[in-house]
Amino acid sequence: MKLDIDFVRSHFGQLDDNPEFVFASNAGGSYVCNQANDLLEHYNRHTRVQPYSRFSPSAEAGEAMDRSYHGWAQALNIDRSELTVGPSTSTNTYVMAQAIGDLWTPGDEIIVTNQDHEANSGVWRRKANEKGVTIRQWEVDPDSGLLDIESLFPLLRDNTRWVFFTHCSNIVGTVNPVAEIVRTIKSRSNARAFVDAVAYAPHHVADLKALGVDGYAFSLYKVYGPHQGLMYINADIRGDMTSQAHYFNSGIPTKDFNPAGPQHAQVAGCAGVLDYLDALHRHHFGDSDLSLNARLDEIHPLILRHENALATPLLEFLDHHPQVRLIGKTHARDDDRAPTIAFKPLNQSSASVAHRLQDAGIGTEHGHFYAHRLISDLGIDPEDGIVRLSLVHYGTTDEVARILRALEIALG
Ligand SMILES: Cc1ncc(COP(=O)(O)O)c(C=O)c1O
Repeated sequence: MKLDIDFVRSHFGQLDDNPEFVFASNAGGSYVCNQANDLLEHYNRHTRVQPYSRFSPSAEAGEAMDRSYHGWAQALNIDRSELTVGPSTSTNTYVMAQAIGDLWTPGDEIIVTNQDHEANSGVWRRKANEKGVTIRQWEVDPDSGLLDIESLFPLLRDNTRWVFFTHCSNIVGTVNPVAEIVRTIKSRSNARAFVDAVAYAPHHVADLKALGVDGYAFSLYKVYGPHQGLMYINADIRGDMTSQAHYFNSGIPTKDFNPAGPQHAQVAGCAGVLDYLDALHRHHFGDSDLSLNARLDEIHPLILRHENALATPLLEFLDHHPQVRLIGKTHARDDDRAPTIAFKPLNQSSASVAHRLQDAGIGTEHGHFYAHRLISDLGIDPEDGIVRLSLVHYGTTDEVARILRALEIALG
């Protein structure tokens, strides 16, 4: 079965605004699905009061928010009490660093990578420095940008407290085998695993219990929804953390790691993403008794195949172009490469290629995309950085053909 792309696109009103424009910067923030926009608008027009009181619009507002909390917990196969919905992933990891770092002592060790976005790196490093904790770096191959699981082995020690890594780099695009990495961590140490899934979640909502992670974070504004960050913290490890809530709210799982407080309408809007994904499932598979999590798993291969079809011609073109250094895997046939494609032009700056593509109606950008350490360690000047083409499942093969034409001209 193929993904019905017309059905998909009918759920994204912004695609109609300018049919000549190709949006290829989705990893920076995706379009919002109509279901999420409808919920946001409904909240703001009709239930914009302090939620969770007994009077009519307030009770409705609380119910709308609870629908999102429960829905996302179900989708991720976690308990409602394990989910924090905060303003962004950067804020969520910052708060987490305070919550877990309080218990770190000199002699402890943590492992971070140089593949991550800074949101899953700097906060832990800063806290470790403050606490006298040793930082070990799991390093990418400096040519490909890929992480090799074997190079993690020697870094794991008895005193390793946490390993922080990414489900998918926002530059390299390869999906790291999270379950296997977590098994390795657990079998060789007592460390916890925290995973940044911001660049993965737009392509698939994962079953977190199956992955075995202790913490997991992603940003819904890149997953067709409102500007919110979702973070999972395994209930078993709450004792390893200090609450960051007001003292009288301490111990309330949804408040412990969200000192910003909930952004009510935005939280209510989060359910819209699940409504959209559910509509996608129903359209392709009909009514189903499967759990939400299982339904998401069922549509994943359709999305994956479509995204691979989008990525393949771009990867082939860039891989064979003499004036291009393609970052990451050169093909998508292993089903582990998101259509997030970064390259460095060899005969001109990344800025100049990005500007030429933009002039040709392709929405793309250049730079380090906050993966400053990775870009530097790949031997690339982070200020000019790489050109990034990032697509999601609402992209079309026609759009890819237009990107290819624009690339041919831009690269010369
Ligand atoms: C891989 C990755 N991690 C983390 C972040 C930070 O997310 P947020 O903007 O929600 O703080 C981003 C944002 O671009 C990202 O791409």
